[in-house]
Amino acid sequence: QVLQGRPHDLAGQHVVVSAGGTREFLDPVRFLGNRSSGRQGIALAEAALARGATVTLVAANVSVPVPAGVDVVRVVTTAELREAVLKAAESADAVVMAAAPADFRPTAFADAKIKKQADGVAPTIELTENPDILVELVRTRSGRSPVIVGFAAETGDANGSVLDHARAKMARKGCDLLVVNDVGSERTFGQPDNEVTILTAEGAEHPVPRAAKAEIAHAIWDAVVQRVE
Ligand code: CTP
Ligand code: CA
Repeated sequence: QVLQGRPHDLAGQHVVVSAGGTREFLDPVRFLGNRSSGRQGIALAEAALARGATVTLVAANVSVPVPAGVDVVRVVTTAELREAVLKAAESADAVVMAAAPADFRPTAFADAKIKKQADGVAPTIELTENPDILVELVRTRSGRSPVIVGFAAETGDANGSVLDHARAKMARKGCDLLVVNDVGSERTFGQPDNEVTILTAEGAEHPVPRAAKAEIAHAIWDAVVQRVE
């Protein structure tokens, strides 16, 4: 149904969308990962296609099917995601970082499966921070100077509300738009619908009421289209 009644306002544009969650391996059978299903990113790719864009989807371990007509690059780790996104961004008019990269990776990779110790002592896993792809996209922006969109999964806490944290994140990242998700409940991960607020670099806040992820995707492209030259 997303194919009908949509403006062809992304015709001639190349958009890059990342989706899913990255995995960071400890040994050949174990990884650190997260709960991102890739649904919102895939809805974004599908919506952009319906609006006439050429779409590159960088898909990290997505658990839903990828739409036909989208150019898919499959990745597993944050390092692979980074490489694929930065390369695709060179010819992009918009880049949307809907993926959830693992923030940390095990510092060491064990070539053989890690075994339990006879003495019952649990191992300690040392972690190294992964590069921030969104920050790097903003810093190295060139070529067609794409519109850069970040996502923020936030819960409110003692230090501030969901939107307080999102505003601070937007300032840190320097992206043009930030799509904010309240993940303080079970209402986002793997769900067919979503409810977001789109923040702009100029300080505007656009609430998008709870709707199917396809509708949320179109609201995000509406905001992008306004910024594409
Ligand atoms: N992101 C990224 N590279 C990373 C981590 C995050 O490009 N290594 C992107 C995500 O794809 C998302 C945005 O940055 O578009 C915000 O991700 P989020 O996890 O909310 O932000 P972090 O900076 O990792 O902060 P924290 O997890 O501590 O809230
Ligand atoms: Ca993070």
